[in-house]
Amino acid sequence: MKIIRDPEKISIETGKNKQLKKRIGFVPTMGALHPGHFSLISRARKENDIVAVSIFVNPAQFGKGEDFKKYPRRFKQDIESCRRLGVDLVFLPDRDNMYPEGYSTFVNVDNLSDCLCGASRPGHFRGVATVVAKLLNILHPDALYLGQKDAQQAIIISRMVKDLNFPVKVKVLPTVRQEDGLALSSRNAYLNKQERSVALVLSKALRLAETLIRNGQRNCGRIISRMRQLIEKNRPAKIDYIAIIDPEQLKELRKIEPGCLIALAVKIGKVRLIDNTVIGRV
Ligand code: PAF
Repeated sequence: MKIIRDPEKISIETGKNKQLKKRIGFVPTMGALHPGHFSLISRARKENDIVAVSIFVNPAQFGKGEDFKKYPRRFKQDIESCRRLGVDLVFLPDRDNMYPEGYSTFVNVDNLSDCLCGASRPGHFRGVATVVAKLLNILHPDALYLGQKDAQQAIIISRMVKDLNFPVKVKVLPTVRQEDGLALSSRNAYLNKQERSVALVLSKALRLAETLIRNGQRNCGRIISRMRQLIEKNRPAKIDYIAIIDPEQLKELRKIEPGCLIALAVKIGKVRLIDNTVIGRV
Protein backbone atom coordinates (compact mmCIF):
# COMPACT_ATOMS: atom_id res chain seq x y z
CA MET A 1 0.00 0.00 0.00
CA LYS A 2 1.39 3.40 -0.97
CA ILE A 3 0.74 6.49 1.13
CA ILE A 4 1.11 9.62 -0.94
CA ARG A 5 0.74 13.22 0.21
CA ASP A 6 1.52 15.11 -2.96
CA PRO A 7 -1.34 15.56 -5.49
CA GLU A 8 1.05 15.47 -8.46
CA LYS A 9 2.64 12.24 -7.28
CA ILE A 10 -0.67 10.47 -6.80
CA SER A 11 -1.86 11.69 -10.23
CA ILE A 12 1.24 10.10 -11.76
CA GLU A 13 0.55 6.88 -9.85
CA THR A 14 -3.09 6.62 -10.92
CA GLY A 15 -2.11 7.72 -14.46
CA LYS A 16 0.31 4.77 -14.70
CA ASN A 17 -2.45 2.40 -13.61
CA LYS A 18 -4.86 3.85 -16.14
CA GLN A 19 -2.34 3.32 -18.92
CA LEU A 20 -2.22 -0.31 -17.88
CA LYS A 21 -6.04 -0.31 -18.26
CA LYS A 22 -6.54 -0.90 -14.54
CA ARG A 23 -9.91 0.10 -13.13
CA ILE A 24 -9.64 2.50 -10.20
CA GLY A 25 -12.23 2.69 -7.42
CA PHE A 26 -12.07 5.71 -5.12
CA VAL A 27 -13.43 6.30 -1.61
CA PRO A 28 -13.11 9.92 -0.41
CA THR A 29 -13.10 10.27 3.39
CA MET A 30 -12.24 12.66 6.18
CA GLY A 31 -10.75 9.79 8.19
CA ALA A 32 -11.93 8.48 11.57
CA LEU A 33 -12.85 5.44 9.51
CA HIS A 34 -15.65 3.19 10.78
CA PRO A 35 -17.53 0.19 9.37
CA GLY A 36 -19.57 2.55 7.13
CA HIS A 37 -16.34 3.49 5.35
CA PHE A 38 -15.17 -0.13 5.46
CA SER A 39 -18.24 -1.21 3.49
CA LEU A 40 -17.42 1.37 0.77
CA ILE A 41 -13.79 0.27 0.65
CA SER A 42 -14.72 -3.43 0.56
CA ARG A 43 -17.12 -2.86 -2.32
CA ALA A 44 -14.49 -0.82 -4.16
CA ARG A 45 -12.04 -3.69 -3.55
CA LYS A 46 -14.45 -6.20 -5.13
CA GLU A 47 -15.22 -4.09 -8.19
CA ASN A 48 -11.84 -2.60 -9.15
CA ASP A 49 -8.19 -3.44 -9.82
CA ILE A 50 -6.91 -0.52 -7.77
CA VAL A 51 -8.53 1.01 -4.68
CA ALA A 52 -7.65 4.55 -3.64
CA VAL A 53 -8.81 6.17 -0.39
CA SER A 54 -8.32 9.84 0.45
CA ILE A 55 -8.12 11.01 4.04
CA PHE A 56 -8.46 14.78 4.31
CA VAL A 57 -10.37 16.83 6.86
CA ASN A 58 -11.50 19.44 4.37
CA PRO A 59 -11.54 22.90 5.97
CA ALA A 60 -13.66 24.30 3.12
CA GLN A 61 -16.72 22.34 4.21
CA PHE A 62 -16.74 23.50 7.84
CA GLY A 63 -18.44 26.75 8.77
CA LYS A 64 -17.39 29.19 11.48
CA GLY A 65 -18.02 27.69 14.91
CA GLU A 66 -18.26 24.14 13.51
CA ASP A 67 -16.10 21.24 14.59
CA PHE A 68 -13.15 21.48 12.13
CA LYS A 69 -10.57 21.70 14.91
CA LYS A 70 -11.98 18.93 17.03
CA TYR A 71 -13.03 16.63 14.16
CA PRO A 72 -11.57 13.21 15.12
CA ARG A 73 -8.16 12.63 13.51
CA ARG A 74 -6.86 9.08 13.78
CA PHE A 75 -4.57 8.83 10.81
CA LYS A 76 -2.41 5.99 12.14
CA GLN A 77 -5.42 3.82 12.89
CA ASP A 78 -7.04 4.75 9.56
CA ILE A 79 -3.94 3.74 7.63
CA GLU A 80 -3.94 0.39 9.42
CA SER A 81 -7.61 -0.13 8.48
CA CYS A 82 -6.82 0.70 4.85
CA ARG A 83 -3.97 -1.79 4.86
CA ARG A 84 -6.20 -4.49 6.35
CA LEU A 85 -8.89 -3.87 3.72
CA GLY A 86 -6.46 -4.20 0.84
CA VAL A 87 -6.33 -0.54 -0.23
CA ASP A 88 -3.59 0.16 -2.81
CA LEU A 89 -3.26 3.94 -2.53
CA VAL A 90 -3.91 6.26 0.39
CA PHE A 91 -3.97 9.94 -0.53
CA LEU A 92 -3.18 11.99 2.57
CA PRO A 93 -2.75 15.58 1.44
CA ASP A 94 -2.35 18.52 3.78
CA ARG A 95 -4.20 21.79 3.66
CA ASP A 96 -1.47 23.61 1.73
CA ASN A 97 -1.40 20.91 -0.93
CA MET A 98 -5.12 21.18 -1.52
CA TYR A 99 -5.63 24.92 -0.95
CA PRO A 100 -2.31 26.67 -1.56
CA GLU A 101 -2.04 30.39 -1.02
CA GLY A 102 -4.14 32.30 -3.52
CA TYR A 103 -6.61 29.43 -3.96
CA SER A 104 -9.81 30.98 -5.38
CA THR A 105 -11.90 28.42 -7.28
CA PHE A 106 -15.02 26.85 -5.82
CA VAL A 107 -17.76 24.62 -7.18
CA ASN A 108 -21.34 25.38 -6.25
CA VAL A 109 -24.19 23.06 -7.18
CA ASP A 110 -27.07 25.52 -7.36
CA ASN A 111 -30.57 24.73 -6.10
CA LEU A 112 -29.50 21.62 -4.18
CA SER A 113 -26.99 23.13 -1.78
CA ASP A 114 -28.95 25.65 0.28
CA CYS A 115 -31.78 23.49 1.59
CA LEU A 116 -31.89 20.79 4.32
CA CYS A 117 -28.34 20.50 5.76
CA GLY A 118 -27.24 23.41 3.56
CA ALA A 119 -29.74 25.72 5.29
CA SER A 120 -28.11 25.28 8.68
CA ARG A 121 -24.60 24.83 7.30
CA PRO A 122 -24.18 27.64 4.74
CA GLY A 123 -21.27 26.97 2.38
CA HIS A 124 -20.92 23.35 3.50
CA PHE A 125 -21.82 21.75 0.17
CA ARG A 126 -19.75 24.28 -1.76
CA GLY A 127 -16.79 22.99 0.23
CA VAL A 128 -17.78 19.36 -0.36
CA ALA A 129 -18.33 19.81 -4.12
CA THR A 130 -15.05 21.70 -4.46
CA VAL A 131 -12.94 19.12 -2.69
CA VAL A 132 -14.57 16.18 -4.45
CA ALA A 133 -14.09 17.89 -7.85
CA LYS A 134 -10.43 18.42 -6.98
CA LEU A 135 -10.02 14.81 -5.82
CA LEU A 136 -11.63 13.49 -9.02
CA ASN A 137 -9.29 15.65 -11.11
CA ILE A 138 -6.27 14.48 -9.12
CA LEU A 139 -7.09 10.75 -9.03
CA HIS A 140 -9.13 10.14 -12.21
CA PRO A 141 -11.01 7.17 -10.76
CA ASP A 142 -13.45 5.05 -12.77
CA ALA A 143 -15.84 4.65 -9.84
CA LEU A 144 -16.58 6.86 -6.83
CA TYR A 145 -18.08 5.27 -3.68
CA LEU A 146 -20.32 7.28 -1.36
CA GLY A 147 -22.58 6.43 1.57
CA GLN A 148 -26.35 6.88 1.57
CA LYS A 149 -26.17 8.25 5.13
CA ASP A 150 -25.05 11.56 3.63
CA ALA A 151 -27.93 11.48 1.15
CA GLN A 152 -27.86 15.18 0.20
CA GLN A 153 -24.11 15.02 -0.32
CA ALA A 154 -24.50 11.98 -2.61
CA ILE A 155 -27.25 13.75 -4.60
CA ILE A 156 -25.16 16.92 -4.97
CA ILE A 157 -22.02 15.04 -6.00
CA SER A 158 -23.98 12.95 -8.52
CA ARG A 159 -25.40 16.18 -9.98
CA MET A 160 -21.95 17.75 -10.16
CA VAL A 161 -20.47 14.66 -11.85
CA LYS A 162 -23.24 14.78 -14.45
CA ASP A 163 -23.18 18.54 -14.99
CA LEU A 164 -19.40 18.81 -15.25
CA ASN A 165 -18.96 15.61 -17.29
CA PHE A 166 -16.61 13.87 -14.89
CA PRO A 167 -15.94 10.45 -16.43
CA VAL A 168 -16.70 8.55 -13.23
CA LYS A 169 -19.51 6.26 -12.12
CA VAL A 170 -21.00 7.27 -8.76
CA LYS A 171 -22.02 4.38 -6.51
CA VAL A 172 -24.08 5.09 -3.41
CA LEU A 173 -24.07 2.27 -0.85
CA PRO A 174 -26.53 1.66 2.02
CA THR A 175 -26.10 3.21 5.44
CA VAL A 176 -24.36 0.96 7.94
CA ARG A 177 -26.03 0.88 11.36
CA GLN A 178 -25.23 -0.39 14.80
CA GLU A 179 -27.44 -3.23 16.01
CA ASP A 180 -29.81 -0.85 17.77
CA GLY A 181 -30.29 1.24 14.60
CA LEU A 182 -27.91 4.16 15.11
CA ALA A 183 -26.38 5.12 11.76
CA LEU A 184 -22.59 5.03 11.88
CA SER A 185 -20.95 8.43 11.76
CA SER A 186 -17.58 9.77 12.82
CA ARG A 187 -19.50 12.33 14.90
CA ASN A 188 -21.02 9.59 17.09
CA ALA A 189 -17.68 9.71 18.90
CA TYR A 190 -18.77 13.05 20.44
CA LEU A 191 -21.83 11.53 22.17
CA ASN A 192 -21.75 10.71 25.86
CA LYS A 193 -23.58 7.62 27.13
CA GLN A 194 -26.90 9.36 27.70
CA GLU A 195 -26.75 11.24 24.38
CA ARG A 196 -25.86 8.00 22.59
CA SER A 197 -29.12 6.46 23.78
CA VAL A 198 -31.16 9.59 22.91
CA ALA A 199 -29.56 9.54 19.43
CA LEU A 200 -31.63 6.45 18.66
CA VAL A 201 -34.62 8.75 18.08
CA LEU A 202 -33.37 9.47 14.56
CA SER A 203 -33.66 5.88 13.36
CA LYS A 204 -36.78 5.32 15.49
CA ALA A 205 -38.49 8.29 13.81
CA LEU A 206 -37.58 6.91 10.38
CA ARG A 207 -38.92 3.45 11.28
CA LEU A 208 -42.12 5.13 12.52
CA ALA A 209 -42.49 6.93 9.17
CA GLU A 210 -41.98 3.64 7.31
CA THR A 211 -44.63 1.95 9.43
CA LEU A 212 -47.12 4.76 8.87
CA ILE A 213 -46.53 4.53 5.12
CA ARG A 214 -46.86 0.75 5.17
CA ASN A 215 -50.19 1.22 6.93
CA GLY A 216 -51.43 3.52 4.19
CA GLN A 217 -50.55 7.03 5.35
CA ARG A 218 -49.60 9.16 2.31
CA ASN A 219 -49.83 12.67 3.76
CA CYS A 220 -46.29 13.98 4.30
CA GLY A 221 -47.36 16.68 6.76
CA ARG A 222 -49.02 14.09 9.02
CA ILE A 223 -46.02 11.77 8.86
CA ILE A 224 -43.62 14.58 9.71
CA SER A 225 -45.77 15.68 12.61
CA ARG A 226 -45.76 12.14 14.10
CA MET A 227 -41.97 11.99 13.71
CA ARG A 228 -41.68 15.40 15.35
CA GLN A 229 -43.82 14.32 18.33
CA LEU A 230 -41.65 11.24 18.85
CA ILE A 231 -38.38 13.18 18.73
CA GLU A 232 -39.57 16.05 20.92
CA LYS A 233 -40.31 13.60 23.74
CA ASN A 234 -36.60 12.83 23.96
CA ARG A 235 -34.51 15.54 25.57
CA PRO A 236 -31.94 16.89 24.71
CA ALA A 237 -32.91 16.07 21.10
CA LYS A 238 -33.63 19.24 19.09
CA ILE A 239 -34.91 18.96 15.54
CA ASP A 240 -33.04 20.89 12.87
CA TYR A 241 -35.25 19.60 10.03
CA ILE A 242 -37.43 16.71 8.99
CA ALA A 243 -38.22 16.61 5.28
CA ILE A 244 -39.88 14.34 2.77
CA ILE A 245 -38.45 15.17 -0.62
CA ASP A 246 -37.95 13.93 -4.14
CA PRO A 247 -34.42 12.57 -4.50
CA GLU A 248 -33.42 14.60 -7.57
CA GLN A 249 -34.59 18.17 -7.00
CA LEU A 250 -34.87 17.88 -3.20
CA LYS A 251 -38.30 19.51 -3.42
CA GLU A 252 -40.59 18.95 -0.46
CA LEU A 253 -43.50 16.64 -1.24
CA ARG A 254 -47.09 16.77 -0.02
CA LYS A 255 -47.86 13.16 -0.80
CA ILE A 256 -45.62 10.12 -0.51
CA GLU A 257 -44.24 9.03 -3.89
CA PRO A 258 -42.24 5.92 -4.74
CA GLY A 259 -38.52 6.59 -4.34
CA CYS A 260 -39.00 9.61 -2.08
CA LEU A 261 -36.46 10.39 0.60
CA ILE A 262 -37.26 11.03 4.25
CA ALA A 263 -34.35 12.89 5.80
CA LEU A 264 -33.75 14.49 9.15
CA ALA A 265 -31.13 16.31 11.16
CA VAL A 266 -31.35 16.42 14.93
CA LYS A 267 -29.08 18.00 17.49
CA ILE A 268 -28.38 15.82 20.49
CA GLY A 269 -26.88 18.31 22.90
CA LYS A 270 -24.14 19.89 20.81
CA VAL A 271 -23.86 17.02 18.33
CA ARG A 272 -25.75 17.37 15.06
CA LEU A 273 -26.67 14.00 13.55
CA ILE A 274 -28.36 13.13 10.26
CA ASP A 275 -30.13 10.07 8.94
CA ASN A 276 -32.55 9.17 6.16
CA THR A 277 -34.52 6.42 4.50
CA VAL A 278 -35.61 5.89 0.92
CA ILE A 279 -39.19 4.78 0.48
CA GLY A 280 -39.40 2.13 -2.20
CA ARG A 281 -42.72 1.07 -3.70
CA VAL A 282 -45.88 2.56 -2.21
O1 PAF B 1 -18.41 12.50 3.55
C1 PAF B 1 -17.27 12.94 3.80
O2 PAF B 1 -16.52 12.37 4.58
C2 PAF B 1 -16.80 14.23 3.14
O3 PAF B 1 -17.84 15.13 3.01
C3 PAF B 1 -16.08 14.00 1.79
C4 PAF B 1 -17.02 13.41 0.73
C5 PAF B 1 -14.91 13.06 1.99
C6 PAF B 1 -15.56 15.33 1.25
O4 PAF B 1 -14.66 15.92 2.15
